[in-house]
Amino acid sequence: MAEHVRVMLTEEEVDAKINEIGQRISKDYAGRQVHLICVLKGGSFFLCELAKRITVPVSLDFMSVSSYGGDTKSSGIVKIVKDLDDSIKDKDVIVVEDIVDSGRTLSYLLDLLQQRGPKSLALCTLLDKPERRVMDVKVDYTGFQIPDEFVVGYGLDYDQRYRNLPYIGVVEFD
Ligand code: IMP
Ligand code: MG
Repeated sequence: MAEHVRVMLTEEEVDAKINEIGQRISKDYAGRQVHLICVLKGGSFFLCELAKRITVPVSLDFMSVSSYGGDTKSSGIVKIVKDLDDSIKDKDVIVVEDIVDSGRTLSYLLDLLQQRGPKSLALCTLLDKPERRVMDVKVDYTGFQIPDEFVVGYGLDYDQRYRNLPYIGVVEFD
């Protein structure tokens, strides 16, 4: 089956929004250092673009998680595939994500990170699908709220493809 991608948010729209978020974070964290945590792989494109627009000192770390399959998935338990390299104790941490969907992954992850004693813990997501939310998650910085459609691009994949698109789109089948 042939497929094509319908553009939902153009590269210019996404860039402008990331500029805005970068400015807000720089202002909110004035005089401090922010420690950005990227959730691989989806968050990586957004993280790089965002980090370049933050004017306060920035440090970075990466983690990779996967949902347990089957019955346990609904419990929101996620497995840490790659943990952070550095301690987050007493740091001003911002978790950078591609999308908050059901909220299961982030809800689990934020609880886990909170237990490690950061000075502060915030969540920044490029996309938010509020209609799909199952777990309550407090999002501090949101790029775009989008309708309940499966999107790709800017780090988001469909079967590992399309992460490299410089815009956000919806896969459609011809
Ligand atoms: P959660 O349902 O909020 O736990 O989202 C888990 C993960 O599902 C996200 O971090 C994405 O990697 C993936 N995901 C959710 N919605 C989409 C989508 O529309 N396109 C691609 N990946 C998605
Ligand atoms: Mg993700």
